[in-house]
Amino acid sequence: MKYLVFNGSPHKGNTWQIVKLIQKELQEISHESTFEEIQLSDLKLPFCTGCSLCFRKGHKYCPHYKTMQRIIDKIDEIDGMIFAMTTFNMQPNALTKNLIDHLCYMLHRPHFFKNKAIVVTTTGGVGAKSAVNYVAGWLKGIGFNYCYKFAIASYSWNDYKVNKKTKIKCKKLAERFHNDVSAKKMHTPTFAVLIPYNLFRGMSIGYVKGTEYETQDGVYWSNPLRSKSTYDPLINVPFYKKVFGEVFYYMGKLASKFTTITYKK
Ligand SMILES: Cc1cc2nc3c(=O)[nH]c(=O)nc-3n(C[C@H](O)[C@H](O)[C@H](O)COP(=O)(O)O)c2cc1C
Repeated sequence: MKYLVFNGSPHKGNTWQIVKLIQKELQEISHESTFEEIQLSDLKLPFCTGCSLCFRKGHKYCPHYKTMQRIIDKIDEIDGMIFAMTTFNMQPNALTKNLIDHLCYMLHRPHFFKNKAIVVTTTGGVGAKSAVNYVAGWLKGIGFNYCYKFAIASYSWNDYKVNKKTKIKCKKLAERFHNDVSAKKMHTPTFAVLIPYNLFRGMSIGYVKGTEYETQDGVYWSNPLRSKSTYDPLINVPFYKKVFGEVFYYMGKLASKFTTITYKK
């Protein structure tokens, strides 16, 4: 299995210890597993400027396209990702948030359908769960097929000693993750994923080529395979979830008749 270890934290601190434990367990389960590392701080990704070109014209027009495309290509290549970040003020640290800002457009046009991830964070005492939920929610929104969450209170600034209980948790999590990733089984999307997916599918009708405010969303959702399907055609969706998704598709379609997101031309 090919894994990407992505560190969104500005340093290799307490959270990194957990990442390395999970990595060690994954390596022991399967010696052929390979790991690549991205330290987000090394990429010197500038702040998102808020130009909205990714939404309107496509992410190729992002002023930081080269860096972002390297990250996207890397995630496309791998089977599984360990995504680490620190919890600052009960949320992901700013470096990570900056990456999320650069990939917000993918909430409108999800991309990583075959990917699975473990989201890892540590906090001093409180806030790890909300930080992990925030990142896992974003990853699922941009298409990730499944996200495991690992939130730990370190009770330390920079002197975290991982206890036996947490080591056992890391081992169990690595086993579950390896089994899931190696089985290549695709999970069906949750209701929470189907809601925005189908709202965007419906609303995109207002932004197709030739409309007053055409956008890249309109192009993406015009693909006949995508426009007619409740979720990405790669993923099996049971009938009851299809019905659920279609309801939100029609709500999106209706909304597009009453509201248009404008931009300066
Ligand atoms: C800027 C900053 C903000 C923090 N915010 C919180 C917080 O909201 N809640 C908390 O319990 N600990 C907080 N902490 C403590 C860290 O979350 C904790 O030490 C964590 O284990 C550090 O992980 P790291 O070494 O991987 O960066 C904060 C630490 C820093 C430096």
